[in-house]
Amino acid sequence: MRLDEINLQKQIGNTIEISGIIVDIEIKESTRGAYSVITLVAGTSKAKLKWWKRSFTADEVSRSKGSCVRCTVKVDEYNGSPSLIITSWTKETELTADDLLPCDRDSENTKIRWQALMYGFRDTDGFLATFTRFVFKNCFEYFMRQPAAISVHHNFRGGLLLHTVEVTELALGLAGACRERLDMDLVRAGALLHDIGKLEEFSIDVVTGEIKYTVKGSLLSHFVLGNDYLRDTYLEFALDYRNLTTAELEQFLLLRHIVLSHHGKLEMGAVVTPATLEAKYVHLADMASCDAYRTTVNTQNIEDGSVNAVWEFGSMGNYYKRVGGK
Ligand SMILES: [Fe+2]
Ligand SMILES: [Fe+2]
Repeated sequence: MRLDEINLQKQIGNTIEISGIIVDIEIKESTRGAYSVITLVAGTSKAKLKWWKRSFTADEVSRSKGSCVRCTVKVDEYNGSPSLIITSWTKETELTADDLLPCDRDSENTKIRWQALMYGFRDTDGFLATFTRFVFKNCFEYFMRQPAAISVHHNFRGGLLLHTVEVTELALGLAGACRERLDMDLVRAGALLHDIGKLEEFSIDVVTGEIKYTVKGSLLSHFVLGNDYLRDTYLEFALDYRNLTTAELEQFLLLRHIVLSHHGKLEMGAVVTPATLEAKYVHLADMASCDAYRTTVNTQNIEDGSVNAVWEFGSMGNYYKRVGGK
């Protein structure tokens, strides 16, 4: 069975088969001899498995990174948590890396939602609609494969597109309540482009699915990279189209303000705090999409009707899983 389909807590005491893709192998020493810690991934689940082997060479294991494997595993208990010991393992023949690597499993539907958002501008020929289409014209193929983060939320292939769709739908829903007082096209463009800097912030290993910060991402953040990306793209846009009017220049300024402020607080990485209603709604929507993902992940492997207490982001949060899983 795939790792992400198993409730390991329920399997304590059993011997089971687990399929996944190897993303890391470490060789460790103990008083009982050498052993390997194999990190296995399937979908959004990750687990570390121990494999006792005394004559285990680095070369032997390096060839296995990125391999799809099926492990026979004894599930022991250690400090109340499952401890996984491999007794034997073979190559997985029924599943491929594409099946096992974390990705948006409903990507076709996500693309349909994306299209609806891209073609929903009120002023279909206005600057914001035209410029947003121009930005994605050259980068969409790459954008739709990028992750949205390394660990916190939507950290899988296609995660950036799914997160962007969620943020845009949420922002439009929130802003719609006071649509008379703000620019709905600015909310839409701002939400669609808020994380455009993540194109350059992360790299994803096509073999193991491992996500890392790029050097540019570490040094500049997706806020600055996003602002740079929009300014660079505008130079091309102006060549193909026209220079902006005063009102459009203000829209462009406010669009970049959304990119630079969407985390809401400076201590959360924002370059500036949101100064417009449009920027505030995109920020709230961004947090809501992230929170929804955390709730899903933190209730994934617990019993129906139980609470998972999780220490994250400097405080303790409770996550309850409803009976029936909804
Ligand atoms: Fe962001
Ligand atoms: Fe975001």
